[in-house]
Amino acid sequence: MKKPRVTLDRVLSKAGIASRTTTREWIEQGRVKVNGRIIRNPDHWVESSKDVVHFDGRKVRDEKKIYIALNKPTGVVTSFGDNRSRQTVYEYLKGLDRWVFPVGRLDMNTSGLLILTNDTDYAETLLQPESNVPKTYYGKVTGVVSLDEYFQLAYGLNIGRGETTGPSIVREIRATDKYTWFELTITEGKNRQVRRMFEAVGHQVLKLVRIRIGGLELDQLPIGKYKVLSRNDAYSAINGTNPG
Ligand code: URA
Repeated sequence: MKKPRVTLDRVLSKAGIASRTTTREWIEQGRVKVNGRIIRNPDHWVESSKDVVHFDGRKVRDEKKIYIALNKPTGVVTSFGDNRSRQTVYEYLKGLDRWVFPVGRLDMNTSGLLILTNDTDYAETLLQPESNVPKTYYGKVTGVVSLDEYFQLAYGLNIGRGETTGPSIVREIRATDKYTWFELTITEGKNRQVRRMFEAVGHQVLKLVRIRIGGLELDQLPIGKYKVLSRNDAYSAINGTNPG
């Protein structure tokens, strides 16, 4: 029987590291090892069942699935390698010897719960719109949000660029005459969705923290720290319940 083989650039792009074009450049730069040896040829054949691939010292395409919860700080981008030299979430994963990629993203000024994994099936399920995974944010906006504005946020509204949001659950936590603190749960993942929802009703988001994905809570995880999740905990983000 023929052994399943794939090219090295495809191994890396399939692992969610970057596009094939970018991974080809990185391979040529000598950042990738196969079975402990630097390989600079992106078209090098890799045998799926036995070859071990490392990228920047981290094991790629590991059969053993790993799930990480990171409390992402503000001012950090959710990507690998930023072309404007900004800090990335990978700087907070030092010590992790396996390659993981972020499941969705938080924008630079948003902090809170970010899941990273090497399990592409898990990531796809969590992100596909049909899964309807609720994501809950805590935040602070300028001004006092009126009842009518809460209704608009909850029913769905036009957030520009031809996009309309679906229903959300929103509740006020506290308000002064200058600011409102809120909790908002959405099941979609449009770009900068929460900020754009509040902007659409005239409020600027000053602070935004993702505190929950499905049944997975940010809990007491300190800012900038990560923890390895059990499979049960990781799947509670999709299933909505955490058996504990
Ligand atoms: N909504 C936002 O505005 N930003 C995020 O990072 C996530 C949701």
